[in-house]
Amino acid sequence: MSNMCEQTKRQSIIDACREMNRLGINQGTSGNISLRHDGGMLITPTSVPYDAMRVEQIVFMELDSAPEAGQRPSSEWRFHRDILKARPEVNAVVHAHPPFATILAIMGREIPPLHYMIACAGGETIRCAPYATFGTAELSHHAVAALESRSACLLAHHGMIAVGASLAKAMWLAVEVETLARQYHGCLQIGTPPLLSKAEIENVRSRMAGYGVGGGDS
Ligand code: 13P
Repeated sequence: MSNMCEQTKRQSIIDACREMNRLGINQGTSGNISLRHDGGMLITPTSVPYDAMRVEQIVFMELDSAPEAGQRPSSEWRFHRDILKARPEVNAVVHAHPPFATILAIMGREIPPLHYMIACAGGETIRCAPYATFGTAELSHHAVAALESRSACLLAHHGMIAVGASLAKAMWLAVEVETLARQYHGCLQIGTPPLLSKAEIENVRSRMAGYGVGGGDS
């Protein structure tokens, strides 16, 4: 990741955005992606359709400041910046509005330990952050708190965030969160799903260290 040149990173962000649309975890211009770069971050521009997005439109921002005059980063630059500041092990932040994760987020439900794969997100639940208006410092505060010791969270009435040591890992997790949300939604049609214990999720976590895209910490 750290050796990736800037142009390659910019293109990988656009490729991941288009992949989100292809996978159906995003619609239109919703969602945004950032990648740590050179002490700051590269982030998608606001309201640009992914098919039309060009590498020069990806915005570079320092982590200790707001956008400069003329820059048009994603309206969610605050939570991308604040997550990258709060979590040194995280290099990529993916935000999307996947249908099933968003259904649960609208209902204010966290995802419980109904499947062992929830361990991939760092614990026995995927929390749902309280609602705050998009783009606000309040939403950023809620997102950072919901992500504490986790790599994914839901945002009430909004969508989800997945983070990772690489963009590939954050994307993989974003898809996994949507799968878990879909499974939970399906279970709720039948009844109340039985859950795994916190101890079992910890057991799974220790067994699957390095599981997922790229194995280690690339
Ligand atoms: P941007 O186009 O500004 O990134 O906003 C999309 C979005 O999903 C806001 O939450």
